[in-house]
Amino acid sequence: MENTKKIHPADRIATLPKYVFAQLAELKQEAIERGVDVIDISIGNPDGATPRPVVDMATKAIQDPANHGYPNFRGKIELRQAIADWMKKRYNVEIDPRNEVQTLIGEKEGLANIALAYTNPGDINIIPDPYYPVLCRGTLIAGGNPYFVQLKEENKFLIDLSDIPSDVAKKAKMFFINYPNNPTGAIAPKSFLEDVVQFCKEYGILLVSDLAYGEVCFGDYRPYSIFNIDGAKDIAMEFHSFTKTFNMAGWRCGFAIGKEEFINNLYAMKSNMDYGTSTIVQDACIEALNMPMCHVQGIMDIYHGRREVMARGFTELGFYAPRSDATMYFWIKIPSKFKSSMEFTKYVLDKTGVIVTPGSAFGSLSDDHFRVSLVQPNYRIEEVFKRFKEAGIRYE
Ligand SMILES: Cc1ncc(COP(=O)(O)O)c(C=O)c1O
Repeated sequence: MENTKKIHPADRIATLPKYVFAQLAELKQEAIERGVDVIDISIGNPDGATPRPVVDMATKAIQDPANHGYPNFRGKIELRQAIADWMKKRYNVEIDPRNEVQTLIGEKEGLANIALAYTNPGDINIIPDPYYPVLCRGTLIAGGNPYFVQLKEENKFLIDLSDIPSDVAKKAKMFFINYPNNPTGAIAPKSFLEDVVQFCKEYGILLVSDLAYGEVCFGDYRPYSIFNIDGAKDIAMEFHSFTKTFNMAGWRCGFAIGKEEFINNLYAMKSNMDYGTSTIVQDACIEALNMPMCHVQGIMDIYHGRREVMARGFTELGFYAPRSDATMYFWIKIPSKFKSSMEFTKYVLDKTGVIVTPGSAFGSLSDDHFRVSLVQPNYRIEEVFKRFKEAGIRYE
């Protein structure tokens, strides 16, 4: 007799919002199949090649049978040492490579796992809105309750701590911040970070700082590490990515730093779930961290040049598109005739073949914005604006 019992996935699958970037990928594929010359300025997927020394090192590492087995769970000590040296060189922060570093299979993985390591079902985690999706999704997967704090333009997209009621703060377990910020491009002054550290200390909250854009900055501006703030080590962890700094999105590598106790709990999650970052990739990461900084500067100079073209193009069409000192993004209001950011996104794709990211990808409070990334060469960015003009797309 055939069993008719239906096999249901866990409730968390039903409650997880659809990943908007996956939806965009489907829309893109459909357009390509229709023969559209698509220009994708949605996802922050760097278009440049990984620097040559890194590729050469990986090519060498893959030949070595010693790299063909399971990696070290925490990351090889040579990589953890290179990470500690990098933190000293770039941020003047001291990290113990043995106990205060965990390598990641991309920062996204680490951000999800740290939420799982610290969130019990029903726990409250404070999350800015708009947010990079995993900053919220980790909490949802763990059965926790996100408490969203809106990032407002009038506050330069910095979290207003007075928007967090004290009964929420008293109960909160984790607080996620991300400056330089995706998607708004906002940067955090030291005084803001000091206030957040003070707040988390006062209420006993684990502060998770996502520094994915630590190197994506222009002119004289340099972001702070959270560990530049006195006392942060007691309550904070910081997550880094190789993706944007070294054009290594596809290699899947990042790292978390913080005091031993926090790192050990992240390690407890990870060592039960994965085997760590491929040793071949780890060797490439060591090379990336140790190579001359001109390689990183070259990548950032390209974004800097594109930022001008993007800012001019949108401004000419009536959009308010201020240049940010960091990140590869512009966060722009949709024209008022559109009811939602997804409606605007679909309209733009249909009329011009250009893909932007709807604000709704970053939270329910952001449906009146869209985000564009500096991931196309200048001539393609110029083409975006030519098509917008032809299609009559402007801010009104
Ligand atoms: C704010 C933020 N954090 C983390 C990540 C994830 O980085 P990774 O590619 O290392 O997983 C990204 C990627 O776009 C990001 O924008």
